[in-house]
Amino acid sequence: MEMQKIIFIAGKGGVGKTTIAVNLAVLWAHQGWKVGLLDANIHSPAIPRMLGIHPQGIVGLVEGIEPASPMKGLKVVSMALFIQNQETPIAWRGPIKQGVIKQLIADSHWGDLDYLIVDLPAGTGDEAMSAVHFLKGTAGALLVTTPQALALREVRRTATFFLQHHVPLIGLVENMAEFSCPHCDGPLTPFGEGTGQPTAENLSIPLLGRIPFNPQVTLCADMGKPFVTSFPPSSAAATLREVGQQCQDLINERMRFTLLTQIVYKD
Ligand SMILES: Nc1ncnc2c1ncn2[C@@H]1O[C@H](COP(=O)(O)OP(=O)(O)OP(=O)(O)O)[C@@H](O)[C@H]1O
Ligand SMILES: [Mg+2]
Repeated sequence: MEMQKIIFIAGKGGVGKTTIAVNLAVLWAHQGWKVGLLDANIHSPAIPRMLGIHPQGIVGLVEGIEPASPMKGLKVVSMALFIQNQETPIAWRGPIKQGVIKQLIADSHWGDLDYLIVDLPAGTGDEAMSAVHFLKGTAGALLVTTPQALALREVRRTATFFLQHHVPLIGLVENMAEFSCPHCDGPLTPFGEGTGQPTAENLSIPLLGRIPFNPQVTLCADMGKPFVTSFPPSSAAATLREVGQQCQDLINERMRFTLLTQIVYKD
């Protein structure tokens, strides 16, 4: 497995981490890069569903795990690919999860990749710790938040987690930033407003974009179609492209990564 550019996507529950991971992966594969997408969410893996991949009931082959490839240049590995009945709960404790994350990373036939995007579950539990541990040294983290103060606190906690594990922070993405009123087209801010920029400044990382709330994003996820290629003219897709470009630029100039040594909160 040859890969240098590994991106963790992290933040509070439900802020849009998986949506952003899936759409960045599709966007980059569409641009001709070789992209791996690792669903590190063991308990509720959603990536195959969002990409319209039907679980093939892959068994843990002695020869390793063959990723699903929903489009040219994209390889996807997820627990969901192993489960025939998606309603089966996965009730595993720490040590097992650690082993599984390791296997998904090391035993999958990724081939040569330009980028590996790792979609983490919320919080800083077993999955995040194992993924960071096994992929240490080559990664950067993209933090996702909504404008809500509660999500912001989580971003700081997550930033400190990466700090403790010496993973540089690439930047912050504010998702569901605003919503266009269907009647007057004016901006509505159901999740609050104006919190992303000060948080990014507080952490000394760039705010890479503010993705608006767009009901098509949800519809696309349910239909198993990537939003970014289904609605390219929308402002949500344009912001995703902008985020993707900045993310690549920052990764390619690793010097500009913020390797935090200390976070000093100003409030
Ligand atoms: N910009 C957006 N506009 C509209 N809906 C969105 C947007 N971003 C995400 N969503 C929707 O919000 C929900 C949560 O998104 P997603 O599953 O990506 O979050 P998550 O952070 O990965 O959640 P979890 O912590 O459970 O893994 C999904 O239904 C998704 O379709
Ligand atoms: Mg998710």
